[in-house]
Amino acid sequence: MTLPTLAIIGTQWGDEGKGKITDYLAEDADLVVRFQGGTNAGHTIGIGDEVFKLHLLPSGILRKGTMAVIGNGVVVDPEELMEEIKAVEDSGRSVSGLRISDRANVIMPYHKTLDRTEERYRGAKGVGTTGRGIGPCYSDKISRYGVRVGDLVDRTALEEKVRMIYPIKRKLIEAFGGVPEHTTEEIIEESANYGSLLGKYVTDTTVLVNDAVKAGKNVLFEGAQGTMLDIDHGTYPYVTSSSCAAGGICTGAGVPPASIRQVIGVVKAYTTRVGSGPFVTELRDELGEHLQKKGGEFGTTTGRARRCGWLDLVVVRHAVRLSGVTSLAITKIDVLNGMKTVKVAKEYEIDGARVKDFPASISMLNTARPIYTEFEGWKDWSREEATRIIRDGYKALPSQMKKYLRFVSSNVGVPIGIVSIGPEREETIDLRKQKWED
Ligand code: GDP
Ligand code: IMO
Ligand code: MG
Repeated sequence: MTLPTLAIIGTQWGDEGKGKITDYLAEDADLVVRFQGGTNAGHTIGIGDEVFKLHLLPSGILRKGTMAVIGNGVVVDPEELMEEIKAVEDSGRSVSGLRISDRANVIMPYHKTLDRTEERYRGAKGVGTTGRGIGPCYSDKISRYGVRVGDLVDRTALEEKVRMIYPIKRKLIEAFGGVPEHTTEEIIEESANYGSLLGKYVTDTTVLVNDAVKAGKNVLFEGAQGTMLDIDHGTYPYVTSSSCAAGGICTGAGVPPASIRQVIGVVKAYTTRVGSGPFVTELRDELGEHLQKKGGEFGTTTGRARRCGWLDLVVVRHAVRLSGVTSLAITKIDVLNGMKTVKVAKEYEIDGARVKDFPASISMLNTARPIYTEFEGWKDWSREEATRIIRDGYKALPSQMKKYLRFVSSNVGVPIGIVSIGPEREETIDLRKQKWED
């Protein structure tokens, strides 16, 4: 199979199954590149009896011979990264293929303190962040107070920056009602220590990635979060602080726009969201609880219960448009097995008017009513039936499920490339290899 440069983008509010799809496609990849986000991400990958929860390491780290690149647009928490490296090594795998951009910004201990104290300060208006220091770190990057990975291996630069920045951060933490948790010396020593541990992986990843693209290697860009959490295009301010749509690849990996040839939009067959903010198709009833339970919808990073609801095509069309999605990977469709009816929102009704395109206004979203199309459900399948479906592929899927899939594809205007029917690598129907007409 030929795999040109390929991007994997979440089309909803994250947790669509990007990690599973990336791991599946990484079989053919020479490089897997993360370009945004940080330890707020939680990508769960099942390989036989093993389960990996990756936050910072690109999912390609689990494939032998694949280079795993942390691009300049990622925010790197060295403490968490060391723990992840250890977990992968403990499983008997090597992390020799890891490369970290010298231009990536570092999540410093005070960013985590600030994230938590700012959330407390916002009270009921809180974003419901993961508390991983993401917002404060990206804020410092933009306001040019950031410490970069390259500074961790340059003691003079590190000391200079920390001594200038930390006194201001201490005041800020106190202004938000918090208490600074570290001394300046502790921060310098700890950071320099991580620099010496991680230094061997640090390089100019833009040279590496662009050389690979030019050489015709298979390069896979692994998105974190989802389009509705994008700082510009998501449900602002209930978003994360990075560019999760495909545009973020150019700045976050340092590659020109023409180098992104295919964009796979990962779509969970229903919708989930962790944290605060509008969610038009949310089900605050037993059906929502059913999806949460059956889908195991509890955050990979924080363990929080994910809010659940029906698939929202207003959201998916927004994501497809923004990232130029060329094919869809539909995940977790097995979670809908056994439901009497399955619904999909095509449009919203807001103040008596029909709305096709996702509005920017939070107050409009809070009053929006979904306009649903209903589908007859399909039966749950046994273990044996699942095995037969894995063997026979798309044609073996229940006919009502195929009807649902065809509707999604034609409404969004993009073909389906992959249907995922379980968390494991082999529970993947690859339509790029087979016909998917009924
Ligand atoms: P990500 O953040 O987009 O990588 O997604 P997460 O890993 O946070 O959440 C997706 C969850 O669904 C993980 O626990 C996966 O193991 C699981 N998963 C992925 N694809 C499927 C699928 O097709 N069916 C089922 N039942 N589970 C899946
Ligand atoms: P993956 O890559 C789901 C959400 C948080 C919060 C908001 C801002 O696993 O899909 P942040 O800590 O980023 O400042 O929090 O974004 N959030 C995610 N939700 N999946 C994620 O990542 C998320 N990363 C951040 O819950 O609402
Ligand atoms: Mg996740």
